[in-house]
Amino acid sequence: MKGVTVVSHPLVQHKLTIMRKKETSTASFRRLLREISLLLGYEVTRELELTTTTIETPLQTMEAPTLEGKKLVFASVLRAGNGLLEGLLDLVPAARVAHVGLYRDHDTLEAVEYFFKAPSDLGDRLVIVVDPMLATANSAIAAIDKLKERGATNMRFLCLLAAPEGLERFTAAHPDVPVFTASIDEKLNEKGYIVPGLGDAGDRMYGTK
Ligand code: PRP
Ligand code: URA
Repeated sequence: MKGVTVVSHPLVQHKLTIMRKKETSTASFRRLLREISLLLGYEVTRELELTTTTIETPLQTMEAPTLEGKKLVFASVLRAGNGLLEGLLDLVPAARVAHVGLYRDHDTLEAVEYFFKAPSDLGDRLVIVVDPMLATANSAIAAIDKLKERGATNMRFLCLLAAPEGLERFTAAHPDVPVFTASIDEKLNEKGYIVPGLGDAGDRMYGTK
């Protein structure tokens, strides 16, 4: 699908399989999500622009590569986005962070916003939006709508699992936002859950339900 990258790295796929298992504990689920976020983060940042800066090594002066432009922003869609955010901040400790508080109404499956806080100069930065699950895509579309409304123009969306139906809707709504995912699953069930999926990501991360 255009604009969608599936990260097929063997370590990502192996860890994802363990996360899917219903017997995987909250502690293991959380640890694996953090580990996977490092590998996904490597892929989603692969095309970051570089410039050069003059440095002195102990032996000589050189023109060395360094990231260009303003610090990037990770935008975490609460709650489950925080599971990806933590690992990504290990990779890019100087990144800025936006929080988009959304929950899915269980009856309508519409995204309901309850919190938003972001750097004021989103338009000057690459914004990587993170949420492990892209199901109906209502949450992802709402998060990107909001970030665009606040000035973001250069974005990527990073998730762990995506449903084909959600990907269709997302790429139609935001064709300018590339998606990175570890898997495109089979479908959504009648309750809007991804199948085979891994269940409710927030509940599995935090031991709620
Ligand atoms: C989950 C998930 C996404 C959303 C995906 O969040 O983390 O944000 O559902 O579903 P959608 O694509 O159909 O919108 P949830 O609403 O369960 O909130 P939580 O992270 O606080 O548990
Ligand atoms: N949100 C989740 O956490 N899991 C799903 O399968 C769908 C939405």
